Amino acid sequence: MTIQENYSLKSHNTFGVDVTAKYFVEVNSNDELVEVLKYYNTLHPISVGTSNSAISKLFLGGGSNVLFTKDFDGLVIQLNVKGISEKVLNENEVLVTAHAGENWHEFVQFCLNKDYGGLENLSLIPGNVGTSPMQNIGAYGTEIKDTFVSCKVLNLETLENEEFDHEKCSFGYRDSIFKQEGRGKYVILDVTFKLTTKNHAIKTEYGAIKNELEKMGIVNPTIQDVSQAVIHIRESKLPDPKVIGNAGSFFKNPTIPLIQFLEVQKIYPEMPHYPSGDLVKVPAGWLIEQCGWKGRRIGNVASHELQALVIVNKTGNATGKEIFDFSSMIIESVKEKFGIELEREVNII
Ligand code: FAD
Ligand code: EPU
Repeated sequence: MTIQENYSLKSHNTFGVDVTAKYFVEVNSNDELVEVLKYYNTLHPISVGTSNSAISKLFLGGGSNVLFTKDFDGLVIQLNVKGISEKVLNENEVLVTAHAGENWHEFVQFCLNKDYGGLENLSLIPGNVGTSPMQNIGAYGTEIKDTFVSCKVLNLETLENEEFDHEKCSFGYRDSIFKQEGRGKYVILDVTFKLTTKNHAIKTEYGAIKNELEKMGIVNPTIQDVSQAVIHIRESKLPDPKVIGNAGSFFKNPTIPLIQFLEVQKIYPEMPHYPSGDLVKVPAGWLIEQCGWKGRRIGNVASHELQALVIVNKTGNATGKEIFDFSSMIIESVKEKFGIELEREVNII
C-alpha cells in the first residue's frame, strides 16, 4: 500500500476527465482501509463528520458516476477489496455477499453462472458492488432494493463497522441515505443480496426486454436470457465509456405533481409519462431532445446522438467544468421550455 502524490485520475473516471488527486491510494483489505484512514487523520486532524472532512477524502469505485470539476485537494481512496461468499437460506433462496471492490457486472455474471436469480435485469451496469446502494442502481424494471438485504459500512467518525439493513438505507429512485444525510460519513464495505435458487421471477414487463427476447426467438426466457436481452439493449443505445467518456444518465428522470403535469400536457400532449399516485415521472431524455440538445455539441462536450440524457466527452479532451457548464445549459433550457427543473444524477466533485 503506497500513498501516491499528484496522481492523475484520468483512468479512474469514465468521463476521462484529466484531474489530479493530491494523494491517492488503493486499498486491498478492510484492515488496510482503516490503517490508511488512521494515518491520514493524524496528518489532517479535521473533525470528521464536518463537510470539510467529507471533501478531503473521496472513496472511489469504478468512477462511473462522478464528474471531477477540478483537481482533488485531498486523499482519493480506491476500494479494491474483493471476495464473494454465500449462505444457503432455504431450499429456494441464498444470501450472497460481495465486497465493495467487486465489479458489478462480473458479480451479476457470477450469480447467473450459479443460476441465482434477481440481478439479471441489472446486467452491464458499470461500477462496483460497494457503490450499488449509493444510488440504489436500477434498470429495466429492477432496482437493487428489490434483492438487497443489508450492507456493512465503516463509520468514518468512529472507525467502527456498522450494519445497515434495508430500512436504514432509505432507498428511493436513484437515492439512499448514502447520497443524503449519510454522504461522506460511511464507506460501504460489503453488500448482501437475497437471491432465488429456483422458481425465479422472470421480469420482462419493461417493454424493450419483451421485444428483444422476441428478436432472439425466445418464448420461455431463463434469467440468463433476460440478462442477454438487457445486454443487447444497453449496447445498442448507451455509449461504451471505454470508447467515449460518459457517466450514463447525467440527470434523473423528474417526478412532478399531477397538476403540473396536466398543465404541461395541454401544450405537449405527446409527452411520454409514467403516473405514480399523485406524481408523474417524465423522461428527461425526451425533455432534453425537445429542447434541441440531442446530438448537439459545444466544444469538447455533446449530448449523445442516441440518448439525449447521456452527456459525452466528445473529443476526449473535455474538462469537468466544460461538462458541468454544458449540463447547466441543458437545465436552463428545460426549465425555460417546460418549467421542469432537472436534477443531476452524477456526483459532482
Ligand atoms: P463511483 O463513480 O466510483 O462513485 C460514485 C459515488 O459513490 C461517489 O460519490 C463516491 O465517492 C461514492 N462511493 C464509491 N464507493 C463507495 C463506497 N464503497 N462507499 C461509499 N461511497 C462510495 N446507474 C444506474 O443506476 N442504472 C443504469 O442503468 C446505469 N447505467 C450506466 C451506464 C453507463 C454507460 C455509465 C457510465 C454509468 C451508468 N450508471 C447507471 C451509473 C453508474 O454505473 C452507477 O451509479 C454505479 O453504481 C457507479 O459505481 P462506481 O463504482 O463507478 O461509483
Ligand atoms: N427519450 C427520448 N429521447 C432520448 C432518450 C429518451 O425521447 O434521447 C424518451 C423515450 O420516450 C423513451 C424514454 O425517454 O421511451 C425512456 O428512455 P430509456 O428507456 O432510454 O430510459 P431512460 O429513462 O432515459 C432510464 C435510466 C437508465 C436505465 C434505463 C433503463 C434514469 C435517469 N435513467 O433511462 O439508467 O438504464 O432507464 O431502465 O433513470 C443511469 O442511471 O445512468 C442509467 C443509464
